[in-house]
Amino acid sequence: AASTRYEAESSPAVCTGTLDSDWAGYSGSGFCNGTNAVGAYAQFTVNAASAGTATLNVRFANGTTSARPADIIVNGSTATSASFEGTGAWSTWTTKTLTVPVAAGSNTIRLNPTGSAGLPNVDYLDA
Ligand code: GCU
Repeated sequence: AASTRYEAESSPAVCTGTLDSDWAGYSGSGFCNGTNAVGAYAQFTVNAASAGTATLNVRFANGTTSARPADIIVNGSTATSASFEGTGAWSTWTTKTLTVPVAAGSNTIRLNPTGSAGLPNVDYLDA
């Protein structure tokens, strides 16, 4: 099926930080600049037509040279983790593909950073 885009700056998404638009190249009206802290999450509410495995494409930018790892928590359980590596510049966005289990209907998908630098800047999630 065609994917749906969930913008990080659009409710019901939650950004534990600020919604910014100072780095070019984002989709929609901005991106989530998470607080630089462990657990400063970005969260999406993703609809799934049926239970099973969903492919998520998370668009992000990390203008540092250090990866910003995160747990991917689906409906309260850690499903996988991701390393959001440096992209070369804050205005250079790339997409990380993740595979997670989902339930039929509404799913809460939280990118929960495990390092003190927090998340990269997060633009959207396609699911
Ligand atoms: C810079 C950059 C932000 C980014 C931050 C960070 O301040 O302008 O967009 O979020 O670094 O390190 O997380």
